[in-house]
Amino acid sequence: MDAKNILVIVGAGGHGRVVADAALAQGGWTRVAATDGDPARCAGELLPGVALQGYEPAVALRDAVFHVAVGSARAREHETHAIGAQRLAAVIHPAATVSPFAEIGAGTFVAAQAVVAPRAKVGVSTIVNHGAVIDHDCVVGDYTHIAPQASLSGAVRIGARVFLGSGARVLPGLSVCDDVVVGAGAVVIASITEPGVYAGVPARRLK
Ligand SMILES: CC(C)(COP(=O)(O)OP(=O)(O)OC[C@H]1O[C@@H](n2cnc3c(N)ncnc32)[C@H](O)[C@@H]1OP(=O)(O)O)[C@@H](O)C(=O)NCCC(=O)NCCS
Repeated sequence: MDAKNILVIVGAGGHGRVVADAALAQGGWTRVAATDGDPARCAGELLPGVALQGYEPAVALRDAVFHVAVGSARAREHETHAIGAQRLAAVIHPAATVSPFAEIGAGTFVAAQAVVAPRAKVGVSTIVNHGAVIDHDCVVGDYTHIAPQASLSGAVRIGARVFLGSGARVLPGLSVCDDVVVGAGAVVIASITEPGVYAGVPARRLK
């Protein structure tokens, strides 16, 4: 984070509001603003003090950095490319625990009560949501979302654009390939090597 920067949150939905809340708690920004690709969502405030403004003027702001806060992995990927990864800022809630020996990618969000352990590596524009745990030596790919209370045991490898649902668990050392959805509460006990939707205990392919 650069204390001289304005932070613009791209995405005026519920997740954008959570990121704005964390950015205000994080502090150090000259201003926190927000925008959205939908012009109907570009007026008023996302939260008190976080003004919404039109997309074009917002992305043209000099001295601004951006955080893409949209739920869909594909949309997050698209918007990240449109803005440019070098202009992205991570937002880390001060109540998250992130090891100084972990790596957090550009534009990634780490919510309150999340834990990212040493030698974990989290990609670009990824979401580590409330209370999620990324244990030691895990690798989490770009645009992935680890939902609230989901947990990765040590040395797990998660691909790009994966959605790991609330409270889902992945046992130590396993891998999940790109473009997988894991349902809420699932327990992944064997590596997942085919894109698809998986759920249950143990996790089985639904689609
Ligand atoms: C797994 C999931 C993606 C499937 O969604 P879907 O494709 O719309 O599937 P459906 O709701 O049509 O359910 C299909 C079947 O899977 C079952 N199922 C759905 N979610 C399940 C889950 N989490 N665990 C176990 N079974 C599940 C349904 O009961 C249904 O079974 P049936 O065919 O025997 O009736 C979704 O249910 C889910 O768990 N999403 C995660 C939500 C979440 O964690 N959000 C966090 C936001 S931050």
